[in-house]
Amino acid sequence: MMEYDEKAARATERSYLEPEIVRQRIRTLDALALRAGERVLDVGCGPGLLAHDMALQVGVAGRVVGVDKSEAMLKLAQQRCAHLSQVEFKQGMAENLCAEDQSFHALACTQVLLYVPDVKQALSEMRRVLKPGGRIAVIETDWRSAVLTSNEQALTRKITAGWDDAVPSPNLPVQLGPLLREFDFTAIRVEAIPVLNTSYSADSFSAAMAKTVAAAAQERGLVSEAEARTWLDDLKRLEQARAYFFCVNRFLFSAVRA
Ligand SMILES: C[S@@+](CC[C@H](N)C(=O)[O-])C[C@H]1O[C@@H](n2cnc3c(N)ncnc32)[C@H](O)[C@@H]1O
Repeated sequence: MMEYDEKAARATERSYLEPEIVRQRIRTLDALALRAGERVLDVGCGPGLLAHDMALQVGVAGRVVGVDKSEAMLKLAQQRCAHLSQVEFKQGMAENLCAEDQSFHALACTQVLLYVPDVKQALSEMRRVLKPGGRIAVIETDWRSAVLTSNEQALTRKITAGWDDAVPSPNLPVQLGPLLREFDFTAIRVEAIPVLNTSYSADSFSAAMAKTVAAAAQERGLVSEAEARTWLDDLKRLEQARAYFFCVNRFLFSAVRA
């Protein structure tokens, strides 16, 4: 199971500061339509980028609580939001939220559920802590929608198939609508957010993911260290030839708790 140590947390933070993920946060904030004074929960808050932006919207009369299982991520989040008295971070699990029933007006869970073995338990917890009429925004990636240039097609197939097995839900978006309905969420809306990289720059989303996905395939014994390196080097060569292309779709689900 993918764990975020200090190195992985910093790599995610860097790639999540890139324009394509900044745009995703703007769309998440638009969907949640936060108001001053509201209480918001960020489940799997990571480096606290969204929590930071949400805190500016709810203001000092509001409250943003970020929960994450990774200590390294929480450290980055705390540093980022140290100047914002309306934000607090707690170590915890999406499947067992340390929060009272019906205590939040809104909740975000972006790029987290694919890692959670029991998605239904996490959704049940999110419903429990939201007030009736509370808004939710969930973002998930469908890794089966990934498009990538590569001169190493056989390795690409092995490595991407390895990612399919490395996370519990690599294509959760196709199930999320019915799952949200099952947990009494209504007014469900979904929009696609493509993450397109035509450059393999060091901090781009796809460069960070390529390293993560290659490492996961290597860890599972699907490719050797040399094969993982060959695959990554090919991506660098494509960049030098200005032939690099990557795109994957993320999906933003917004809904209201009945
Ligand atoms: C890809 S990062 C996304 C971070 C943040 N939501 C964002 O979009 O910027 C995934 C985060 O989910 C956290 N995570 C994974 N499984 C979790 C679980 N079961 N409970 C709480 N956090 C979890 C990880 O530690 C990591 O910080």
